[in-house]
Amino acid sequence: MVKVLVAGGAGYIGSHVVKALLQNGHRVTVYDNLSSGQRINLFPEAAFVEGDILDFATLDKAMAGQDAVVHLAAKKAVGESMEKPELYAENNITGSLNIMKAMLKNGVENMVFSSSAAVYGMPEYLPIDEKHPLNPINFYGYTKYDIEKYMEWYSRLKSFRYMALRYFNAVGYDAEGSIRGREIGSQNLLPIIMDTAAGRREKFSVFGTDYDTRDGTCIRDYIHVTDLARAHVLAIDYLLRGGRSASLNLGTGKGTTVKEIVAAAEKVTGRKLNVEYAGRRAGDPAVLTASSAEAEKLLGWQPEYTDIEEIIRTMWQLEQ
Ligand code: UFG
Repeated sequence: MVKVLVAGGAGYIGSHVVKALLQNGHRVTVYDNLSSGQRINLFPEAAFVEGDILDFATLDKAMAGQDAVVHLAAKKAVGESMEKPELYAENNITGSLNIMKAMLKNGVENMVFSSSAAVYGMPEYLPIDEKHPLNPINFYGYTKYDIEKYMEWYSRLKSFRYMALRYFNAVGYDAEGSIRGREIGSQNLLPIIMDTAAGRREKFSVFGTDYDTRDGTCIRDYIHVTDLARAHVLAIDYLLRGGRSASLNLGTGKGTTVKEIVAAAEKVTGRKLNVEYAGRRAGDPAVLTASSAEAEKLLGWQPEYTDIEEIIRTMWQLEQ
């Protein structure tokens, strides 16, 4: 039985990862400060330590005896990271260094890290593969890039192996309804659309209608969180089998425009959404799509959810 510490395991992606690990027979300890994670997302089969990744003593204690770490404890609002870089440096970078320090101290050698497509910045070609230059254009993306570099150095210098998973646009919820803690205050497109459809919000804006895309709105690669979660389980298995450290994209390779998302959401919810067409949001590339060929090669991973309506249905069912 593999013992896995999941930092950020009460959060949106983390709770899905915990479910997938438990389903695969792993013994899980969730480590979370509940700043954005929610108690309702905890599984009774997993142990829980309420702690901050900045609190080394608590982290150190929780790390003892683990075989691997999945690290998803981070702040992730791009706009906020540009206004409060010091907050993001402290939480994301110092917090990650603390986790790695506790790992080295306790002889825990394997880490699966929650990275982001934000490490690439503006795409130079599409779909983006892992050879694409890393030029983050926001501080959030920089923190993920920076942590990947630390992990790379540690893997050269110490008994430390890692798998950085670069998520594209994470969406959806567990289709079986096991995860009840809807993300609160997310500024991402689909959570905002769900808020609007459910009546918690009056309207929302589509940022930019003059992009060079099929309908003028931005194209993104929306990947279901259950597919992401499965990749973490595969990454743990891979590292424990002795696989080499790597960074991998996780996306579907399929691009969907904002207008297509809106149309699909109206169809799934049966509600007409109050949409305002606004100007472009700073820093948004027109198109972001992933090549996940490397994840398929190394992990045998492929997304199972490819239909955006089906993905949105897994979000809408939480409102019922
Ligand atoms: N959008 C709107 N209106 C909104 C919110 C978003 O039109 O109210 C549009 C955006 O302009 C973008 C698309 O919807 O074209 C998706 O936007 P999100 O904010 O949901 O996601 P991003 O693609 O901007 O960001 C995602 C992740 C980040 C990551 C980034 C780059 O959420 O963590 O991809 O990889 F940094």
